[in-house]
Amino acid sequence: MKKRVGLLLAIMTAFVMLVMPLGNTTHAQAADNSLEKIQKKGVLVMGTSPDYPPYEFQATVNGKSTVVGMDVQIGKKVAKELGVKLKIKSMSFDSLLVALQTGKIDMIISGMNPTPARRKNVAFTHTYYQGGYDIVINKSDQGKYKNKDSFSGGTLGAQTGTTQYNAAKSQTKNTTVKGMTSQSDLILALQSHKLDGVAMEKPSAEAYVSNNKQLAAIPSDFNMSSSATSSAIAFRKGSTSLVNKVNKTVDQIKKENLVKKDYLPAAGKYLKTNTVNTSMTHYWKAFLTGIEYTLIITVCSVFFGFIIGIILALARMARGNFFKNLLRWVATAYVEFIRGTPMMVQVMFVYFGLGLFVNLPALTSGIIAISLNSGAYVAEYIRGGINSVDVGQTEAARSLGMSNGKTMRYVILPQALKNIWPSLGNEFITLIKDSSIVSIIGVTELIYQSNIVRSDTYRGVAPIVVIMVLYFILTFTASRILNYFERKMQHA
Ligand code: ARG
Repeated sequence: MKKRVGLLLAIMTAFVMLVMPLGNTTHAQAADNSLEKIQKKGVLVMGTSPDYPPYEFQATVNGKSTVVGMDVQIGKKVAKELGVKLKIKSMSFDSLLVALQTGKIDMIISGMNPTPARRKNVAFTHTYYQGGYDIVINKSDQGKYKNKDSFSGGTLGAQTGTTQYNAAKSQTKNTTVKGMTSQSDLILALQSHKLDGVAMEKPSAEAYVSNNKQLAAIPSDFNMSSSATSSAIAFRKGSTSLVNKVNKTVDQIKKENLVKKDYLPAAGKYLKTNTVNTSMTHYWKAFLTGIEYTLIITVCSVFFGFIIGIILALARMARGNFFKNLLRWVATAYVEFIRGTPMMVQVMFVYFGLGLFVNLPALTSGIIAISLNSGAYVAEYIRGGINSVDVGQTEAARSLGMSNGKTMRYVILPQALKNIWPSLGNEFITLIKDSSIVSIIGVTELIYQSNIVRSDTYRGVAPIVVIMVLYFILTFTASRILNYFERKMQHA
């Protein structure tokens, strides 16, 4: 008997080992309609992190803040050769790979190096540019630093998720390496002497230095492979037909030397025009757009959060049978879980995680995530408000023959809401500030707009002061309005 079972297991194992790879190959071949899908969709979504001049950065074009740079020119040429429209989605560099893998974008053109580690998860085209790495320092420190080894005992900054960040971590000794999401934040930290240097690619270092007289660049002397110093376009793993087609465009760009002859000079022009007018009033449209999106996110999240809060509060008070006890348990678990995880993680889960099943725009994802988060807190306020209503109110209503539902709806909830109005007001004020969290998925609210203005003007502190004042105006005005209605309710 034992022999038969052993033989059966051996045959089954052999079968699985033989069939699985074939299955994958067949699956991969059948699944690779990547080129056909893009051409049928008619739009090619390019993901990029526009804080890396001259590769990609923000510039004011015809009065509108626009993503420009050599990578944008390459994206436009790729889209043209494919016969589709180009749509650019901006986000932080360390969000690009997950955005590509979850289908939020179709390709990454963001000065990205086709390193072996990345090749495990994405497919790269041929390289379109060969760079190298410098370290940007304050000009006042020139002579103090020669290369990466000079920063021993000091602090070196680099953009999180990048090749230079990994190189700084692995190739420096006794150096504190600070990672930041935004290249503009790194330059601001350098200028405020929080960092001694910022590692980045040579063209980017030259762009920052040429636009800021207080900065200088030194060679990094990082020991880098050719794949770590070149740039290529990233597509989803298995997009062979698309990659092969785009390679023809990339090879043409290299053959005609378009990057050096055309794309870099064009980017340089934008860099110069950018710093003609760097007054904050010149960017009033950007800040106004930021306020619009901040208010849209806040109002929608408070509305949906309040509805979710009422449902959760009532569910947490359900008792009497198995179903009601299960409802109470689920509601309690939801409230504890949401209050136990950071909102930033929730925003990324909704945008990238749910994005695997339904392609939600960044703004919608942000509103959903903040509403779900707010609902957990509002549920506790409402539950506290309901418990604060004297039990005699319920007894009186029930003795008049009112059902439980009507008692709750017409007697308890109105009094409870009056008691929790201040807490709901605080939640509204908190959401005005918390709405900034969605800037990580590219929603153009106030923080996102300030990053655009910073990378546009190369001014670090001024945009921060402007949005601090704007947030205060928003929260102070909101609290005055809420206090007015609170007083009216007290006298009602
Ligand atoms: N070339 C580096 C990398 O691939 C850095 C790229 C940064 N790009 C950006 N747009 N911020 O890791």
